[in-house]
Amino acid sequence: MTTPLRLGIAGLGTVGAGVAKIVAAKSNLLAARTGRPIVIAAVSARSRDKDRGVDLSGYDWESDPVTLATRDDIDVFVELMGGSEGAAKKATEAAIAAGKQVVTANKAMLALHGQELAAAAEQASVALRFEAAVAGGIPVVKALTEGLAGNQITRVMGVMNGTCNYILTRMETAGLPYDEVFAEADALGYLEADPTLDVGGIDAGHKLAILASIAFGTQVNFDAMQLEGIQRITIDDIRQAADMGYRIKLLGVAQMTGRGLEQRMSPCLVPANSPLGQLEGGTNMVVLEGDAVGQIVLRGPGAGEGPTASAVLSDIMDIARGDRISTFGQPANALEPAVGAQTAVPARYYLRMELLDKPGALAKVATVLGEAGVSIDRMRQYAHEESSAPVLIVTHKTARSALDHALQNLPGTAVLSGEPVAIRIEQV
Ligand code: NAP
Ligand code: HSE
Repeated sequence: MTTPLRLGIAGLGTVGAGVAKIVAAKSNLLAARTGRPIVIAAVSARSRDKDRGVDLSGYDWESDPVTLATRDDIDVFVELMGGSEGAAKKATEAAIAAGKQVVTANKAMLALHGQELAAAAEQASVALRFEAAVAGGIPVVKALTEGLAGNQITRVMGVMNGTCNYILTRMETAGLPYDEVFAEADALGYLEADPTLDVGGIDAGHKLAILASIAFGTQVNFDAMQLEGIQRITIDDIRQAADMGYRIKLLGVAQMTGRGLEQRMSPCLVPANSPLGQLEGGTNMVVLEGDAVGQIVLRGPGAGEGPTASAVLSDIMDIARGDRISTFGQPANALEPAVGAQTAVPARYYLRMELLDKPGALAKVATVLGEAGVSIDRMRQYAHEESSAPVLIVTHKTARSALDHALQNLPGTAVLSGEPVAIRIEQV
């Protein structure tokens, strides 16, 4: 009889219960594929009495996740509590110090403490794996660390927050304003306990920071991420973008430039007929570009019990097989500090503004743009009845600094009503 791999699972919510269900229901399949039984030794959560939809009576209960993480009878500590600090971090550190392998789905903890945890895991000669932390059921960590290991990665892009993609696509299909769809998403239980994590781009930014580290061999540096959420996107932006052949996505882009690592998570216009443009609802998509492979597109469910538990199992099964790979694809001490690029690669921009409908207004706007070095590609003024007219401008490629200079000077023309909105158009 081969030695079983013994799990201690901390966190029995959506993901933890999902993992327990798969381990219970598919023991033969898991053993056949890894060559050894995978068993749960003990579990932990805040409330012992809650019905989790799975029979946990055969496992020991620990009320303290740190005690669970250091038990003699577990080989792998599976951290599924969440939160960048507190119990999750303490228990993960304790598990590593006790020589346990660790599997987690915790993108917040990895984005903020990934480097120190990876270094500690390597020091202790244990694995720290996190497939479920990025894009849920999509095996993107494996794709980068293994499938594309022979490539110089040139760019990573992705829609990695299903809630934001749901909100943006629902606004478009139902013709509803942001606030109404946000309330709908809330009622459906899509939003994180702190919704800013979703709509502010933070959750997706955590995921992108993790992928950037693997892709570019740099230390995770979430602080260097340029972040902008979807809160200012209006139904008019969505309609007018569509009118010009684009869709708006909360898009993450990471690329190594001559000026350092560019990491952006922000609303972008992408061609409506591109794979990213066609992504509907809560689905995630990650686009990876490598010098040898070219471009590959991965699409699938980014959240939910089954997809996320599926990714956790993939890590557990690698450990059961004895597969070893450094946390971020190479030893932690070989990862370079990520120097953040101060400016983004030049791009075309979509500009929306309300102009007072009076003679010379458009000319004044064009002058400010021209003086800042921003060239206009296309311009459209929409039919209007009130005293202000909605105007849409698509620029030629321009540096963000030039555009910001123009945006600063536009109010001085005294022909604008409200603040202009600028959204990057991404080449995908
Ligand atoms: P969840 O449903 O809120 O479950 C969290 C679990 O952790 C609960 O069982 C909770 O206990 C337990 N817990 C929280 N604090 C604890 C503490 N101090 N001590 C012991 N147990 C504690 O969360 P989830 O959605 O499963 O997410 C878990 C992790 O997976 C997070 O890092 C999340 O970011 C990540 N993730 C989730 C998804 C998803 O689709 N849900 C997708 C990708 C990644 P009680 O049940 O007793 O309250
Ligand atoms: N809040 C996240 C999302 C959950 O909407 O994609 C999965 O990380």
